[in-house]
Amino acid sequence: MNHRITVVGTGYVGLVTGACLSDFGLEVICVDKDRDKIETLKRGVVPFYEPGLENLVNKNSSAGRLTFSNDIKAGIENSDVIFIAVGTPSQENGSADIQHVQDVARDIATYINEYKVIVNKSTVPIGTVRLVEDIIKRYQKQPFEFDVVSNPEFLREGAAVYDFMHPDRVIIGTDNERAVSIMKGVYRVLFLNQKTPFLFTDPESAETIKYASNAFLAMKVTYVNEMAALCEKTGADIVSVARGMGMDGRIGNKFLNPGPGYGGSCFPKDTKALVNIAHNYGVQMSLVEATIAANENRKKRILSKIETIVGELHNKNIGVLGLAFKAETDDTRESPALSIVSDLARRGAYVKVYDPKAMEQAWLKLNGLDNVQFCENEYAVAEGVEALIIMTEWNQFRGLDLTRIKASMQKPLFFDLRNIFEPGIMRKMGFEYYSVGRS
Ligand code: UDX
Repeated sequence: MNHRITVVGTGYVGLVTGACLSDFGLEVICVDKDRDKIETLKRGVVPFYEPGLENLVNKNSSAGRLTFSNDIKAGIENSDVIFIAVGTPSQENGSADIQHVQDVARDIATYINEYKVIVNKSTVPIGTVRLVEDIIKRYQKQPFEFDVVSNPEFLREGAAVYDFMHPDRVIIGTDNERAVSIMKGVYRVLFLNQKTPFLFTDPESAETIKYASNAFLAMKVTYVNEMAALCEKTGADIVSVARGMGMDGRIGNKFLNPGPGYGGSCFPKDTKALVNIAHNYGVQMSLVEATIAANENRKKRILSKIETIVGELHNKNIGVLGLAFKAETDDTRESPALSIVSDLARRGAYVKVYDPKAMEQAWLKLNGLDNVQFCENEYAVAEGVEALIIMTEWNQFRGLDLTRIKASMQKPLFFDLRNIFEPGIMRKMGFEYYSVGRS
């Protein structure tokens, strides 16, 4: 049976989920209370950069499978599966703010008109499935049957469409057989096409898998960053250490690229939320706490390394390439690049910056600093600077005309915080070259 889907929330998770499910041939309504966002989407424009998403949205909108609406009542009444994919931002104490999830649960209680499966897609604290169940039971006008399911997402920004279409696994958290068969129907295409593994488990375990996975990945990245710091002292090469580690099937070769520290909208948020959830149960997640502290410390260490090598930063011209928290996204949330740029500017340096996609978002966060200059391309950044810093591993930076760059710099001082270049080649070209974990 072809299910009718409503996805509430048209951010990264909601829009990718809606577009991909409609590409499976399902009828999908994406609902958002933000009228501008919905109008933009109806015009076929995706308000953030995510490779492949805009084409997918337009393909399925014109096929009539994917529609956008502000009308959550109609969305709830006219579907049998409702995905909750609204934001769950960090609060001061690190806990996830689930107010938007609760609001949607209240709307579902108000408008539910027959049996529905409600799917928690947003990253939510452990126990939220039961909370949503309670809210709907308490506020629904008639005792309609329904099931609430946890179906956490594992989408990386910059690869979200790919990750949805090629998941390592689909996690479904529910105790109810009826909901299991409906969710199998929703994800049938993934199973038929590529035998994607499904894990059916209880809601709490499904909710925990999400936090446990993200915090583990954040820990893995932080571990390799600390290993890189040691390599810089011992003369070892982190690239070959990481390669050697990754050849061990128990470790795996992913998330072992050292850099300026993790950022984004998930790792920082989910690590703090996990620590907070555990704390509420009287459990200390000491390794995750150490990861959070080590990641913060890494940004400080990078700044002091730059300051030591460049010398007095006041009135110095510094170029920074890359503002997004990683390549293939325009997202600057918790981006280490933004903290480095603002720290340099606060120390009196004149900072010239460029990013292929994140200029607009970065400007909104940095425009208060009058000694930050937004340039139209990488070469304009390099002109006249006494140091050039690579913060984000955009492919176009890997293809830089380094001869032209060096000729236009005041001093050939080059910090490559993503190891996108080779030390030997850079030194042969006459750069004073510093990278991560390679002496
Ligand atoms: C992450 C998880 O990967 C995804 O499964 C979850 O759904 C959301 O959070 P995302 O935050 O988009 O996705 O980015 P990711 O690619 O995981 O990178 C997270 C951070 O780690 C970035 O700052 C990235 O630069 C950094 N990173 C990642 C490294 O420094 N080295 C690596 O090898 C990998």
